[in-house]
Amino acid sequence: MKMTKPKSQILVIFGGSGDLTKRKLIPSLFHLYCDKRVPSHFAILGVGRTRYTDETYRALVLSELSKDESIAGHDSLDDFLNIIYYESINPADEAQYEQLKEKLHSIDRIIDNKGNYLFYLATPPSLYAKIPLCLKKAGLNTNEGDEGMKRIIVEKPFGYDLESALRLNEVFSSVFDESQIFRIDHFLGKETVQNIMALRFANGILEPLWNRNYIDRVEVTAVESLGVEERGAFYDNVGALRDMVQNHLIQLVALTALEPPVAFNADNFRNEILKVYQALRPLTKSEIEHQVVRGQYMASKTRFGDIQAYRNEPHVSPESRTETFVAMKLFIDNWRWEGVPFYIRTGKEMPTKVSEIVIHFKSTPHSMFKSEKHQKVYNRLIIRLQPNEGVVLRLGMKVPGSGYEVKDVSLDFAYDKLGGVPAGDAYARLLEDCMKGDATLFTRSDAVEASWKFFDPIIHEWENNLSIPLYGYPAGTWGPLESDSLMAHGQHWSNPCKNLTDTDLYCDL
Ligand code: BG6
Repeated sequence: MKMTKPKSQILVIFGGSGDLTKRKLIPSLFHLYCDKRVPSHFAILGVGRTRYTDETYRALVLSELSKDESIAGHDSLDDFLNIIYYESINPADEAQYEQLKEKLHSIDRIIDNKGNYLFYLATPPSLYAKIPLCLKKAGLNTNEGDEGMKRIIVEKPFGYDLESALRLNEVFSSVFDESQIFRIDHFLGKETVQNIMALRFANGILEPLWNRNYIDRVEVTAVESLGVEERGAFYDNVGALRDMVQNHLIQLVALTALEPPVAFNADNFRNEILKVYQALRPLTKSEIEHQVVRGQYMASKTRFGDIQAYRNEPHVSPESRTETFVAMKLFIDNWRWEGVPFYIRTGKEMPTKVSEIVIHFKSTPHSMFKSEKHQKVYNRLIIRLQPNEGVVLRLGMKVPGSGYEVKDVSLDFAYDKLGGVPAGDAYARLLEDCMKGDATLFTRSDAVEASWKFFDPIIHEWENNLSIPLYGYPAGTWGPLESDSLMAHGQHWSNPCKNLTDTDLYCDL
């Protein structure tokens, strides 16, 4: 498959009036359009059951975009709206795909497109298995030479457990070639997540230290200060493990742990990700009880105001046992990481929104100096993914004056010093990659399966063993205290705060 953006293309968004389309896809596409990062002959076709005409859909898009002050009144808005169309069909009814096909052909004629279609599944996951089959029936799945390229993007969660992920992969591979399938994980579209690769493999000084000989443990945190908002119906069926851990967090673990790819391209990069997943040490039933902590937020007064309990959120069952917090310890059984614990954690209604990776290095074998807290100095490399993206190395330095007291200080680098990130968020980058057919930052079928293989037993044990606790934690806190017990004696999670300043990058809340 060619890795160039086609001259013409129609992006077909199933779930055209859905939340993801309005909040993420349309604004990202607007930025791509303004920056001329879409094909020169380009159109967007929203598809869904809700009845809109092209005009009423454009009005909806305009009202959504206008909520963003930086977009409202923008010079390019009218031109952008003109490339947007809508077709109302039931995506689960294959008979209605003829109508979709006609609409596509009419847009083909308007923009001079030769059948290049990029389908985006931004629908509820229950439709993921159905839409590809309908596309196949309508003959909308096969590439026709250099022109007439068909690609499909599918949102997470890809599967509900191992069995359903296998089934879904089967459906997709019966309709499309793997090179046509783009399983999106928006974390991989984040600049700073991609920067992990540059940090590790463009710098000679880090790689020799990046292993069990020098690293004591790794922490991966991706927590949020918001609750489930309007997504209660979706979230209550999914929970934090499926929503964040099985995809986003384990991707971050893989990027931290993978071996240097031979080259940075889709095959080599994804081969190395897969090897990390395959090396995840499976958890026994007892380890699931003791190495995984789940929690659910309870009502609380926080600095953001009164927060209601998860169980009182709209569309959430009042008896729900869905986890809104997960912390766990895992190991990677390979040469580089043997014996190094990876602690990963995610949660809703935490004190702040932050995603970061903390590499804890081993201390010196013998300490000659006294540190502030009369403890050894432990160097840490903190990779802050969001917000205030940057990298901080914590070092011990002598306190000026008499004696030899050592203080923990920061060598820091703020990512925006490199000149700002391109407009649009992670979705813009990933949509552009799909248009080009570059699958490097998308999850391959074998990796989805390997990741589910690791997480599936946890899900099933939680379902079947009701004695495994679901801890309550007050909204606005760092989750159940039990999550600290995952760590060795004397260790605790690094709890960063959001309001970073140049001089005081990290502090405990
Ligand atoms: C999504 C999850 O994939 O990621 C959401 O479904 C979560 O529950 C979101 O809020 C977090 O992404 P970001 O980019 O805001 O950190």
